[in-house]
Amino acid sequence: MYKGFYGLKENPFNVSPDPRYLFLTEQIEETLSSLMYGVQTRKGIITLTGEVGTGKTTLVNRLLDRLRESATKTAFLFNSRMNSAQLFDFVLAEFDIHCESNSKSQQLMKLNQWLLERFRKGETAVLILDEAQNLTFPVLEEIRLLTNLETSTEKLLQIVLSGQPEFEEKLNLPQLRQLRQRIMIRCKTGPLTKDQTHDYILERLKIAGATPSGQPIFSPAAVETVHLYSLGIPRVVNLLCEHALINAYVEQQRPIQPKIIEDVAREFQLDQVEPTASPENLRTSAELYNSEAFIQNLGEVLSRFRMSSSAGSLPNKK
Ligand SMILES: Nc1ncnc2c1ncn2[C@@H]1O[C@H](COP(=O)(O)OP(=O)(O)O)[C@@H](O)[C@H]1O
Ligand SMILES: [Mg+2]
Repeated sequence: MYKGFYGLKENPFNVSPDPRYLFLTEQIEETLSSLMYGVQTRKGIITLTGEVGTGKTTLVNRLLDRLRESATKTAFLFNSRMNSAQLFDFVLAEFDIHCESNSKSQQLMKLNQWLLERFRKGETAVLILDEAQNLTFPVLEEIRLLTNLETSTEKLLQIVLSGQPEFEEKLNLPQLRQLRQRIMIRCKTGPLTKDQTHDYILERLKIAGATPSGQPIFSPAAVETVHLYSLGIPRVVNLLCEHALINAYVEQQRPIQPKIIEDVAREFQLDQVEPTASPENLRTSAELYNSEAFIQNLGEVLSRFRMSSSAGSLPNKK
């Protein structure tokens, strides 16, 4: 394997959400602070939206760690394909609330009692739902009703809904008007800039055991090429870098040259979309960033990416 050749102790670009690899930019820190603030000041519903692979689940995991440190009661539901009955079962199970009855009204009563106890003890309870774009209308309606559990002044249950941009679109539908009105804070994740992508790659290599001195593993031009094809989306950065390491090892290449990245991008068909402008420029200009061309670009890259990741694990390499 490439680890020995590149002087690494582990795979730097694993896609598993390992907290040791958390990379914090100013934006990510800000988003994390907003989420923390929202929960701690009992804002009710908070949303976190962003394209697939931009770090929502990673961020939510970090939030959970921080909240647990502050003795907050947390329930995290990452499987959003559930019906209303399952929602209540999951919430009770996650909060460790025992209820003999399966009836919804009994469960709701138990939950309310438990939340009131937490409130009296000065504790906060938070329910986090990931992949919220898959939640059905009836489940979203139940979630809205959960925010009715309140004292005369405070929400008893804080709810974080994290999902892909489709979720935001869904929230704009007239059926979800009431839920939308209860969203107090909207947070977002986005792609990394060129400099951030560079730092992200270096940081991961360092955590995996690369020695900072000596010949770099990726040439500066290769890093730039990673940014170009990934559009700064961490999951795609990981995909490109991991496969580049494997391919470059076969050729015993160090530093890794852009050609290796281009080949991997071609393999995953990330090359078929010509970036119309550099993502760097697009990031700094809100107008351009929202331009149709960019969205289309990103959308196409992502749809390909989605296809390749939903087809199961990545093609087997040694
Ligand atoms: N801030 C970050 N620090 C370190 N790795 C990250 C970060 N954001 C994303 N990643 C990497 O990208 C992958 C995809 O991120 P993830 O949180 O699953 O995205 P999303 O939930 O938005 O689809 C993660 O497994 C992780 O390896
Ligand atoms: Mg996710």
